[in-house]
This record gives sequence, C-alpha cells and structure tokens, in this order.
Amino acid sequence: MSDDIVCGVSEGINTLCFNRPDKKNAITSSMYTVLADALRKGDQDDSVAVHLFTGASGVFTAGNDIADFLTMAEGGEFDPNILDFMRALVGAEKPVVAAVDGLAVGIGTTMLLHCDLVYASPNADFRTPFLGLGVLPEAASSLLIPARMGYARAFEMLCLGMPFDAERAREAGLVNAVVPADELEAKAREAALGLAAKPPEALKVARQLVRGDRSDIITRMDEEIALFKDRLRSPEAKEAFAAFMEKRKPDFARARAEAGNT
Ligand code: COA
Repeated sequence: MSDDIVCGVSEGINTLCFNRPDKKNAITSSMYTVLADALRKGDQDDSVAVHLFTGASGVFTAGNDIADFLTMAEGGEFDPNILDFMRALVGAEKPVVAAVDGLAVGIGTTMLLHCDLVYASPNADFRTPFLGLGVLPEAASSLLIPARMGYARAFEMLCLGMPFDAERAREAGLVNAVVPADELEAKAREAALGLAAKPPEALKVARQLVRGDRSDIITRMDEEIALFKDRLRSPEAKEAFAAFMEKRKPDFARARAEAGNT
C-alpha cells in the first residue's frame, strides 16, 4: 500500500500526514480515499479523541493532483473521492487540528476552514489559485472565507488568487497561532492532547454548539461542486491543467479559439 498518506494513532491523536514529497504532497484520488477512511475510522475508534493533519518535508500540500484534474477534464467526470473526503471532514465527529508548514494550496487551504485549530509555521504559504486554473473555490470556501475574513480579503484570496503568508492568515482568522517551524508539530500535538484530556461527551456537545448548524455548508459545498464539474470540462481548465503539466504559461485565448473551431 502507498505511504503517500501516513496515518497512526497515539495518545488519543489520529495523525494524518501528507507524505508525497516528490510531488509537494499533491493529493491523488487514492489519497483522498485513505484520508476519508482514516477520519471515519478515527471517529468510530474510542481510543481516538482528536484528528491531526500534518505535512512533511516542509510542505503541507500542493492541493489536488493536477494530473488527476487533467484526466478528469478530458474524461468529463469529477472524482467522487474528492467530495467524499470533504464530506468526511465536514462531518468529522471529533475535533480536527492542523499543523501547516510551507505550502498549503487549493484544498490544502480550504480544508483548514473545517479544522477546529490551525497552527502555522512562519513559512506557511496559503494559496487558492482556483481561478488561474479555470476552476472554482470548493469545500464551501466561497461561503466560509468571506464569513471568516470579510469580503475584501476573501476576494483577494479566492478571486485574485493572492497568496497569504502565515501572519496575514493569522490576522484573517484562518490560523490560531504562528509558531517556529521546529516547534510546530509539538504545539499542535500539545493542543490536541489538551483536547484529548477533556471529558469527551462535554467536548462533543460544546464543539457542536460552537460549530453550529452545518447544513448551509453542505448545501454550498454541493453547489460549488456542481459548478466545478462544469468548469472542469471548460477549454480554460483543460488549457490550465495541460500548461501546468507541460511547465508553460496557459494561453486561454488560444484555448478558447481552438474550442470555438471544433
Ligand atoms: N499536482 C501535481 N503535481 C504537482 C502539484 C500538483 N498540485 N504541485 C506540484 N507538483 C509536482 C510538480 O509537477 C513537480 O513534479 P516534477 O518534479 O515531476 O516536475 C514537483 O511536484 C515539484 O513541483 P515544482 O513546481 O517543481 O515545485 P516549486 O517549489 O517550484 O513550486 C508549487 C511548488 C506548489 C508552487 C507549484 O508546484 C504549483 O503551483 N503547483 C500547483 C498547485 C496547484 O495549483 N494546486 C491545485 C490547486 S486547486
């Protein structure tokens, strides 16, 4: 079995580690499946109190694997494992903590909106380049990012595709604290252990109250995915994915013209 995701339970913490360093921890279809299974298994496991996401080799994750996106764009089908992972994360019954060192791209940033505590190193780099790829924000980020950081910053992040560094992400309310890289995992673990030490029933109810009703989030996530599926089939997205794989700049005008001629 692939070790692109490394999972393990210790001291009540279910750690899910992105570990595909040669591709900057970009997430493939099978990795989404492993993540969703690990979250659901952890929720059912009485020895688990908290889920903890980490990256490896100085990267959190470069987001969805773009080779997979290109395959989806050419086949016209959206990979259901992506949505299944998002649903497992939104529906996680136990608190979720994340430790972000380095790049957190696309879903690497939007998944953090569903985490309860997020710690970042000064090297953390949050990017949502959806529009540049011809696709759209997902994981209910079009709802949650404006709510979290206000319209002005949300538009910069989601529509302008402006990267946010660790400090800006903290100011914007995406990150709880910025801690030195060599202390990051210890800090996230300390917080996770703090949660694990709470009475589980009280923690569960308090978390439900603080998180509130999730139905709007699930509705928005489904709306985004329906639109995302259309965008995946667009000449713009196909051109953007092909350009990334071919290590060149996308030429959207040419892609549109070619699509118009077919
Ligand atoms: N999907 C597939 N492969 C990816 C990837 C992704 N999301 N991100 C990085 N990789 C691969 C690169 O193709 C490269 O592979 P290669 O060595 O076989 O050529 C390898 O990881 C290293 O990436 P590279 O681009 O050389 O590293 P970098 O430090 O110069 O840049 C990024 C890192 C993350 C900024 C850049 O790779 C990038 O923009 N990736 C795409 C991120 C993205 O748009 N994700 C989807 C969001 S919806």
